[in-house]
Amino acid sequence: MKKVTTSAPGKLMLFGEHAVVYNHPCIVTAVNERMYTTIELLETQEFLLEAPDVKVLDYKKNIKELGNGEIPKDAQFVEVTVKNVFEKYNLSHGIKVITKSDFSSEFGFGSSSASTVCIIKALSELFELHLSNKELFDISYKTVLDIQKKGSGFDVASAIFGGTLYFVTGGKTIEPLSTSSIPLIVGYSGVKADTVALINSVKEFSSKNPQLVEGVYNSIEIIVNKAKEEIENKNWEQVGILMRENQKLLQSLGVSIQKLDDMISSSIAAGAYGAKLSGAGGGDCIIALAPAEKNKDVYSAIQKVEGKILHASTNAKGVRLEL
Ligand code: PMV
Repeated sequence: MKKVTTSAPGKLMLFGEHAVVYNHPCIVTAVNERMYTTIELLETQEFLLEAPDVKVLDYKKNIKELGNGEIPKDAQFVEVTVKNVFEKYNLSHGIKVITKSDFSSEFGFGSSSASTVCIIKALSELFELHLSNKELFDISYKTVLDIQKKGSGFDVASAIFGGTLYFVTGGKTIEPLSTSSIPLIVGYSGVKADTVALINSVKEFSSKNPQLVEGVYNSIEIIVNKAKEEIENKNWEQVGILMRENQKLLQSLGVSIQKLDDMISSSIAAGAYGAKLSGAGGGDCIIALAPAEKNKDVYSAIQKVEGKILHASTNAKGVRLEL
């Protein structure tokens, strides 16, 4: 039977998290650690899922039941994605989906959004839907919102377009930056962040302190716009300084934690130009930028406070068919 494999990159938020949920811009880069999906057409009317990385094995359903009943958390994104595409394009066919990832779903690299994008791209190919990247974005973003209820869609855009993007909420602007690889150092905290819980906690803080938070978001926007220019000019020292400023503003929203703060301050003490958390906060990763000759010192400094170095290169290619 016909089968197709697609892959999409993970991502790292460089600047602008949280503000981007509320109509401000952010900058996101795609990383070379990828998510892979293979979809095979079946003779039966079944939906089968194998996602060994998240321990979903032999998951099975009639395709008429997609989206109904109890869905295990780790099968949710795949199942709801297939359901949304089938409904929108009036499709009905048994399929087997196999997902595989280069990276752990614990890192906060966006495994759920990358798998949603991979699946839609694979279905577009199998059923000859000829979806444009914008159509791919719209249906992927709808799926993420169906499940998470909240989010800007930056992770979906990164998985589709790849590279390094200047992105505004809901895809109002998706602009590729002209840059090659960014020499980022990535430190993993070992703590899994709950993105939706953090978005909610910022929302609650904002409802009590609306002016303060609006001021923070406006300051973040100014940083994002400066960072866009400095990244394109490869002025890493200035980018590092902007990272420090962005981090201070994120701290004022209450989303950083001690472990992240420790990794960030140790990186800077070891010679990094700057460092910040990447993503929702509460855990996941920090990113740092340092002069090449200081990289080893920064690695050791992060490890000393029990962070783990992840080797991920940036500006990776977006979703694609694998032969
Ligand atoms: O936790 P992550 O890596 O998915 O990043 C979340 C970033 C937010 O701005 C807090 C949410 C969003 O969807 O933009």
